[in-house]
Amino acid sequence: MMYSISPVLVFVVCIFSSIPSTLYAQDSGDVGGGGGGGGSGGGDGPGALTLSCGSKDGGIDADGRSWEPDDKYLSKGESKPTRATYQDSSLVSKVPYMDARVFKQEMSYELPIRLQSRYWVRFHFYPSTYPELNVANSYFSVVANDVTLLSNFSASLTAQAVAQAYLIKEFSLAPMDSDILKITFRPSDKHPGTFAFINGIELVPSPDLFEQAIIVGLGETIDGMTANMQTMFRLNVAGQFISPKNDSGGLMRSWQNDEPYLFGAGYGIPMKADEVQIDYKSLPDYSAPPDVYMTARYMGVDAHTNMEFNLTWIFRVDANFTYYVRLHFCEFKPDINKINQRVFNIYINNQTAQADADVIAWTHGQGVPIYKDYAVYVEDLPGDDQIFVAMSPSLKYQPEYLDALLNGLEIFKIETAKNLAGPNPEPSALPAKSEGNSTKGFTNKSKSNIHVIGGAAGGAAAFGLVAALCFVVYQRKQRIPGTESHTSSWLPIYGHSQTTQSKSTISGKSNASSHLSAIAQGLCRRFSLAEIKHATKSFDESYVIGVGGFGKVYKGVIEDKLKVAIKRSNPSSEQGVNEFVTEIEMLSKLRHKHLVSLIGFCEEGNEMCLVYDYMALGTLREHIYNTKKALSWKQRLEICIGAARGLHYLHTGAKYTIIHRDVKTTNILLDENWVAKVSDFGLSKTGPNMENGHVSTVVKGSFGYLDPEYFKRQQLTEKSDIYSFGVVLFEVLCARPALNPSLPKEQVSLADWALHCKRKGILDDIIDPLLKDKISPECLKKFADTAEKCLADSGIDRPSMGDVLWNLEFVLQLVESTEASSNRSRGSSIDGAEDDNARNCSIGSDHGSNESSDQDSAIFSQMVNPTGR
Ligand SMILES: *[C@@H]1O[C@H](CO)[C@@H](O)[C@H](O)[C@H]1NC(C)=O
Ligand SMILES: *[C@@H]1O[C@H](CO)[C@@H](O)[C@H](O)[C@H]1NC(C)=O
Ligand SMILES: *[C@@H]1O[C@H](CO)[C@@H](O)[C@H](O)[C@H]1NC(C)=O
Ligand SMILES: *[C@@H]1O[C@H](CO)[C@@H](O)[C@H](O)[C@H]1NC(C)=O
Ligand SMILES: *[C@@H]1O[C@H](CO)[C@@H](O)[C@H](O)[C@H]1NC(C)=O
Ligand SMILES: *[C@@H]1O[C@H](CO)[C@@H](O)[C@H](O)[C@H]1NC(C)=O
Repeated sequence: MMYSISPVLVFVVCIFSSIPSTLYAQDSGDVGGGGGGGGSGGGDGPGALTLSCGSKDGGIDADGRSWEPDDKYLSKGESKPTRATYQDSSLVSKVPYMDARVFKQEMSYELPIRLQSRYWVRFHFYPSTYPELNVANSYFSVVANDVTLLSNFSASLTAQAVAQAYLIKEFSLAPMDSDILKITFRPSDKHPGTFAFINGIELVPSPDLFEQAIIVGLGETIDGMTANMQTMFRLNVAGQFISPKNDSGGLMRSWQNDEPYLFGAGYGIPMKADEVQIDYKSLPDYSAPPDVYMTARYMGVDAHTNMEFNLTWIFRVDANFTYYVRLHFCEFKPDINKINQRVFNIYINNQTAQADADVIAWTHGQGVPIYKDYAVYVEDLPGDDQIFVAMSPSLKYQPEYLDALLNGLEIFKIETAKNLAGPNPEPSALPAKSEGNSTKGFTNKSKSNIHVIGGAAGGAAAFGLVAALCFVVYQRKQRIPGTESHTSSWLPIYGHSQTTQSKSTISGKSNASSHLSAIAQGLCRRFSLAEIKHATKSFDESYVIGVGGFGKVYKGVIEDKLKVAIKRSNPSSEQGVNEFVTEIEMLSKLRHKHLVSLIGFCEEGNEMCLVYDYMALGTLREHIYNTKKALSWKQRLEICIGAARGLHYLHTGAKYTIIHRDVKTTNILLDENWVAKVSDFGLSKTGPNMENGHVSTVVKGSFGYLDPEYFKRQQLTEKSDIYSFGVVLFEVLCARPALNPSLPKEQVSLADWALHCKRKGILDDIIDPLLKDKISPECLKKFADTAEKCLADSGIDRPSMGDVLWNLEFVLQLVESTEASSNRSRGSSIDGAEDDNARNCSIGSDHGSNESSDQDSAIFSQMVNPTGR
């Protein structure tokens, strides 16, 4: 009965929405823009101040933190409070972003501070639309006492580059001989008519966090204690976003997930401590919160594979500065508690920063955290304004495991001659990830491939975040004389400043009549209807490649070379408008290798279209059944892992959870390299903060994949996506649709039938005949266990997407190590090392060399227990 209803249900939009902030934090000190901080009401220890600039009465932000008005700290001079006319959907609270103070001339705040104490200073900028101002014209510097923090700073260019509506810049000021901190805003004198503005200022006293750090490759040390610094990145490796409220020591820092910064083909595997109590011993607890130390990324279970790559993160930074790199470690894997079990080398920018790192040797025990500081100078060489942090196993003392580990990472820019300011992001100078091969599979772990793939995927990880598609489009356009001026495709289309619009863009439409926020418009290219018609031969039926709830999907070619997919809304559907807007708002701000990329949109008259990267290999569904050439087991696994990564990113990549709501095999697309990309965000919702748990909505989604609990209780949580993904996993395994009405009643629903068979132990009877004998019983069991858990009746019993991902990665590693061991007879120099290692194992521990599954299951059991998620 259910399945005779139209597949997509009606819906009602409610709740606020929010977009995860950030991916790339270069220049945004923000490391996330995670929002207005948290905490206990403005006074975190003596000397803490939180100012909502330009506001009359201050206010309380979404985290319950109170902000006071700024006027009593202003020195004499002229300034004007103002209020933004548009509240971006990513602003979860009006405070401190909607109010701003504008300075046409130099002016200062004088803030009381303690003598000889280090301070965090955070600036919040919301470059939006303000009455009679065009923020795109705002360039200014910010000086704290005598230290230049920002110079010729354009908040609007920076926000565009990081794809955020607002920015937080964080600085750590060295102890000063003064009890007043004078923060001066100075409009640039190089830009006539320009102005400075600020929405919020935080001042938080800080302990002495920095020490001596060894300059990598030089052997000298740099003194962190007396240095002024800017935060560039702060990552909770393999863990979730940690909000300012949950930071330790009341320092109000935010910590991001590291996945967007992973470089190359090897992602390693995340792990999470179960039982371990973090024991700070001599380390102060403000070093990092326990959550940082309770999650880690390691290379993998297969020593052979681990020898073939470096686990690498890449960060874009400003050239000509020295950076302070702090790496946080904590060992908690149950069977690692002795010296020389897991020993590795750490490289920064291809130089050895630390040889033979052994966390247990440093800490003398499990659950004891430690950090290590290094410094690196980044020169101004072309393409070299980046920091690589890489790790690989050390063979020197033949440790038990060939593996490496990292729990947390922070990168700070160190002042040079009282200056911390870097240039604005330069749209034209940013490397394009455009030219083909931007995203490759992580399939082939052979050495030669890692380099090629690494280069490309690293581009996607680091720049994709920043440069992303608008640059790509921009750069492509550049080469075609006579088309749209680049200003319109790159610069924000704010307010009424559309003087540079060519006819190919807005055709006289004012911002007010658009459904879209300024930021979304600025981030994506706007196509004219003529361009779309040209690309699709006036929506020729032969160009149709699919039909969805939203309308038809056409293939098309833009500018005679760029292949795109164009989703055209059904002009008569009001529902279409909302989904259209949701999708643009979501996608324009999300950048991830496993999410489909939005290139632009067209909104003209009644016509609304979305333009995406063309996914050459179509939907996952087409490749599982009714296909000529079925996918191999390994390919299917890799695709599931890709999709899981995309979803994991949606769920945990930022402070606010995004719930996809329509996970199914037709919404998992494949590019020409079989890389899976999650698509179709028309129904997506940003969930509230985890604390609140759920969103109430009218049910929508697709039958066959719909979470029964959600259906019953109408409360949406990210666990509904988990349920749908469980159905996808069974669909991939059994090669049959989620609903097949032509089957006997008990078999119609794949979810019900697969669970029934799994519980009866007859799953073998229903798996894809093509996979029989191709899957080892061990892999099948783990895969099916994972899928089964996803389908648990109640949401709280289902694993998180992170756990699903870990399990699938584990299955893939099993497949790969089986492959590797069957290839091993060929012999190679690395095999020698492996054998030594194995010998070592059998002597030094109770793991026999053949019992790798033993070791595996220890890791597995850590991965499955979804504690605290
Ligand atoms: C870095 O310093 C060099 C030499 O002083 C200078 O030529 C170059 O422009 C600087 N680069 C940046 C990005 O400031
Ligand atoms: C890992 O990185 C270091 C430093 O860049 C390099 O010397 C080494 O060859 C790399 N190892 C692999 C397996 O790529
Ligand atoms: C450092 O290593 C990376 C990847 O291993 C490579 O792409 C880059 O060119 C190397 N840089 C230098 C300066 O050798
Ligand atoms: C200020 O920044 C803008 C945008 O990056 C740049 O075009 C301009 O040249 C800079 N001006 C100065 C004086 O550095
Ligand atoms: C992209 O990959 C294809 C093969 O997949 C290769 O032929 C081509 O040269 C690559 N292009 C670039 C720019 O690396
Ligand atoms: C803080 O941490 C707790 C426990 O880990 C978590 O439940 C809560 O959601 C977090 N709060 C915020 C604001 O992130």
